[in-house]
Amino acid sequence: MSAFLVSGGNRLSGAVHVHGAKNSVLPILAATIMSGKVSVLHNCPDLKDVTASIQILEYLGCKVQREGGTVTVDSNPMSRCDIPDELMREMRSSVIFLGAILARTGRAVMSFPGGCELGSRPIDLHLSSLRALGAEIDEKSGCLYCAAPKLRGCEVNLSIPSVGATENTMLAACGSEGVTVITNAAREPEIADLQNFLIAMGARIQGAGSSTIIIEGGYPFHELSYRVMADRIVAATYLTAVAAAGGEVEIEDVDYRQLSTVTATLIEAGCYIRSDPKRVFISCTKPLFGVRPIRTAPYPGFLTDAQAPLMAALAKSQGTTVFVENIFENRYRHVAELMRMGADIRVEGRVAVVCGVNTLRGASVRATDLRGGAALVVAALGAEGDSRITGLGHIDRGYQDLDETLRSLGAAIWRTEDGETL
Ligand code: EPZ
Repeated sequence: MSAFLVSGGNRLSGAVHVHGAKNSVLPILAATIMSGKVSVLHNCPDLKDVTASIQILEYLGCKVQREGGTVTVDSNPMSRCDIPDELMREMRSSVIFLGAILARTGRAVMSFPGGCELGSRPIDLHLSSLRALGAEIDEKSGCLYCAAPKLRGCEVNLSIPSVGATENTMLAACGSEGVTVITNAAREPEIADLQNFLIAMGARIQGAGSSTIIIEGGYPFHELSYRVMADRIVAATYLTAVAAAGGEVEIEDVDYRQLSTVTATLIEAGCYIRSDPKRVFISCTKPLFGVRPIRTAPYPGFLTDAQAPLMAALAKSQGTTVFVENIFENRYRHVAELMRMGADIRVEGRVAVVCGVNTLRGASVRATDLRGGAALVVAALGAEGDSRITGLGHIDRGYQDLDETLRSLGAAIWRTEDGETL
């Protein structure tokens, strides 16, 4: 079993590039099948979930080439419309293939998707939106049998601004006849990135980034080359790592506007931050202070994906910070592990009260989900002594070369195989 060994206490300094966004590239990879042509994607991160998406594309019959950060998908030879259960279970985003496959072939068969265990993660909004567009969906023994000989544009009002349901509806609507209007759509930057990709492929779509997205379906798609946006969650993780360990770091190639809730919180906690449209500089030279309550919310609110790494940084602070997790019902699994490192955190339902401590101590801990795993790395960098973090399979789903990047900033972190110690 591989593990990260972290010797805490080194200040971080230097500059880092942020790789392409996992949550953009996954729906974009699904969307490539709709064209029946060649799509060239640049800035694709080397992540477990990207590999899983490529496996799905290959299973469907597409030809995929991966060279460094460039993935080329030729979806012309696509010959299947089903996805086997073992591939569906790899990640949550496998469900976004549903809208794309229906748009391309009018039929789809798949089971329910996997992904991080963050509480119940239904797909009812995905299914009701696709049904509104004309898909007939039978749910039998954990399997979805979908038929949509003809998808027709319509009004889709999402009761929750679900990211995945917005993406699935966008894809199916591009393959529908007529106009679809999605109201209460998710406004996350990754939705705007998907829209930009679809426009580059020939779709008529506008409004992503706002609550109303309008899609005029039925236009032909063509070949394209597209660069995936930078990963704002990875950028947020590096910011919290500097806040935890101290130091001065420039994070390059990120849009600071997408990080404003995180940077505002870190400034309140005592960090110095300077931003321009292409980079964010952070300096942290003093112990952190507790901050006003952090309430996660759909974009542009505080992103749930940064909740755990920020909590790890504020676990070592002067004062108390209250977190309220409003997006997922069970996204505090990192708390028990942080407490092994000496954190003082109490959880009651969706609320976590973090009483800052002066020092965290290195410990043996286990990542139980992606961002919770990143939080353990953040905490270990700021802790006294050595930590051993297992469960790297979770972290590898969303961070490319996390240890190498942190080492380039001066952190003492190594990936090892079982049994090795520092
Ligand atoms: C996306 O998940 C991201 N994943 C998540 O990132 C992110 O945390 C989340 O959006 C919120 O920003 C990807 O983009 C691959 P949702 P998604 O549908 O689409 C409920 C990470 O660490 N809901 O917006 O699954 C749902 O249960 C990950 O990178 C329904 O009730 O999120 C949740 O409480 C984890 N019915 C809320 O809505 C539905 O049909 C928001 O979920 C769909 C969702």
